Amino acid sequence: MPRARRKIRFGIIGLGLMGRELASATARWCHLLDLDFEPEITAICDTNPALFSWFEDNFDTIRVRSSDYRDLLDSSEVDAIYCAVPHNLHAQLYRDIIAAGKHLLGEKPFGIDLRANEEILDAVNAHPNVVVACSSEFPFFPAAQRIMRYITENRFGTIIEVETGLLHSSDLDPNKKINWKRMIELNGEYGCMGDLGMHALHIPLRAGWMPDNVRALLTNIVTQRPNANGDMIPCLTWDNAMLACEVNTGEQSFPLTIKTYRIAPGETNTWYVRILGTKFSVEFSTKYPKTLRIMDYESGREQAWQSIDLGYETAYPAITGGIFEFGFSDSLLQMWAAFCDQLANGREGMRQPFYCATPEETHQHHQVLTAALESGKRGHVVPVAQPRPIG
Ligand SMILES: NC(=O)c1ccc[n+]([C@@H]2O[C@H](COP(=O)([O-])OP(=O)(O)OC[C@H]3O[C@@H](n4cnc5c(N)ncnc54)[C@H](O)[C@@H]3O)[C@@H](O)[C@H]2O)c1
Repeated sequence: MPRARRKIRFGIIGLGLMGRELASATARWCHLLDLDFEPEITAICDTNPALFSWFEDNFDTIRVRSSDYRDLLDSSEVDAIYCAVPHNLHAQLYRDIIAAGKHLLGEKPFGIDLRANEEILDAVNAHPNVVVACSSEFPFFPAAQRIMRYITENRFGTIIEVETGLLHSSDLDPNKKINWKRMIELNGEYGCMGDLGMHALHIPLRAGWMPDNVRALLTNIVTQRPNANGDMIPCLTWDNAMLACEVNTGEQSFPLTIKTYRIAPGETNTWYVRILGTKFSVEFSTKYPKTLRIMDYESGREQAWQSIDLGYETAYPAITGGIFEFGFSDSLLQMWAAFCDQLANGREGMRQPFYCATPEETHQHHQVLTAALESGKRGHVVPVAQPRPIG
């Protein structure tokens, strides 16, 4: 007889690229060891019912299917929601989900703009018993987990600089068809920053490195794209953004450089972090998913970088042997486990310390992106507003 685990009954709203990924992570729950909680997909929703069949073919636990998300919110078969819909819908859906008392793992950027994000935060404040978190999976890579540990241990000495980013390249093709992520009204004025910024900012914000100010260089490189009929139409979203930020921790200040590029030739979902310090430096990129580079330094010693091949060294132990390597879908499974753990045991009772991105962190990231947008338009350094208190 399988051991009884607490079931967390999930509804998925938005059955596209990410909706399937999270469902697949649920199907792979047996990969994880010794957990006393388990997600179960009981409800699905998309305005395109053609997407139901993949879910129904693969999950016999689905009891509610609808093209109206409110049916999931009204259902007693649903405890929590994973929501992955276009950005223009985040504010309304996330608020409604939270107000219905359903726990929420929502996709980034958690609101199409700062105002939408603050509306979501108001709902979070009004419903303190609802667990709300934002999806951001890259920090669950083993090397990123090590980096978080080095940050907690304060290993770096004086920080010289920090660089983070997320790079894509498929938009280099001018004939790639336009989709909602390249339309301001659906994706948001932030463009690539709204799409990729939370990924790049999650570790700096968790480290407490909220920038004081930002100078942003924003570029729209491919200004027209074919629509579904092949007609060329304007493509007005920012393709690439480079943010030069100043971080002041009270003890020291240092530059934080963030790149969110949709047109970085040759790069396929390359997420990276580089922290240079006077005593210790570290570097990781998903381009080399198992390789962590570190450099210890003491006065008079040779400056030599070391490369460590990390195996499957995960926040939540899994069946995969430590000699094997980790990938994108593994990071989603680990993030999913962290959200379910927080839901089952509360943040303080989690099996490991790294919790998913918080609503407060999404607000901080909106403050940075809003200032970056203004900086890009005006060509000036713009102060980053400090987030309003939550709760
Ligand atoms: N964490 C990550 O790595 C990652 C990667 C890609 C996208 N995302 C985020 O996930 C979200 C969705 O992106 P995607 O790539 O899955 O998009 P997608 O276009 O593949 O899927 C979105 C789905 O939402 C559905 N939808 C639209 N309106 C709806 C409504 N009113 N009710 C229910 N369903 C509706 C669409 O029909 C579509 O199937 C976005 O917020 C995006 O930024 C996150």
